[in-house]
Amino acid sequence: MWGTPAQVAQLRDLADQHGLKLFEDGSHAHGATVSGRRVGSFGDAAAFSMNGPKPLSAGEGGFLLTDDAEVYHRALLHGQYNKRCRNEIPETYPLHRYAVTGMGLKHRIHPLAAAIGLNQLSNLDTYLAGRHRIADYLCERLRDVPGVEPIVPAQSDRSSWYGLILRYRPEQLDGPARPLLRRPTSGRCDRGRQARFDLPAEPPAALPRTRPALPCPLTPLRLCSRAVPQS
Ligand SMILES: Cc1ncc(COP(=O)(O)O)c(C=O)c1O
Repeated sequence: MWGTPAQVAQLRDLADQHGLKLFEDGSHAHGATVSGRRVGSFGDAAAFSMNGPKPLSAGEGGFLLTDDAEVYHRALLHGQYNKRCRNEIPETYPLHRYAVTGMGLKHRIHPLAAAIGLNQLSNLDTYLAGRHRIADYLCERLRDVPGVEPIVPAQSDRSSWYGLILRYRPEQLDGPARPLLRRPTSGRCDRGRQARFDLPAEPPAALPRTRPALPCPLTPLRLCSRAVPQS
């Protein structure tokens, strides 16, 4: 999640034990590794997003990895119709009969986005190195901050650092979460300069759950409304 790999090797074992397919959502985790092996290579298939801020961005779109012919042909029928399906799905294959129409959907990536993604791939290692440097810096600075604990990958693993996730440790704080609300001024990382974020004194009550798919009540609390420079 957020580029930090799950226990995907164990999930692979579990799937094998029970004869299940394993699908990886590698949406954020381009180039992330588990014991040196790339995320996306553990599952029967893996999907990656390349929309806006992803470590590998094409503006919009994504891609699927698989070495499973059934998954590949089924995905092809959802993404395309006619030419590629007729060219790639063998005539002897049962799904070939749908090749002309596909599944009636065209979920393929825009070709221009695919070209951008391919071009960006050669920069991925440089982008990841930058993300690592920033994550190391932030983790180091957060090490002694009570109330938060950065979630870092296991020693043998590597995150793509799509985001830095903080586990909230309320037991380390005496009151509300105010000590969390400090950060380097407007994205600048010069030591010693900080901004405080202006918060409502009391968090407003949670709103009732309004959407069936939403597991938690909504809260109208905006964590940071405006930055107040500190002298
Ligand atoms: C975990 C996860 N999976 C899948 C997706 C879907 O990606 P896309 O927006 O490219 O369809 C996202 C989007 O950010 C995501 O966060």
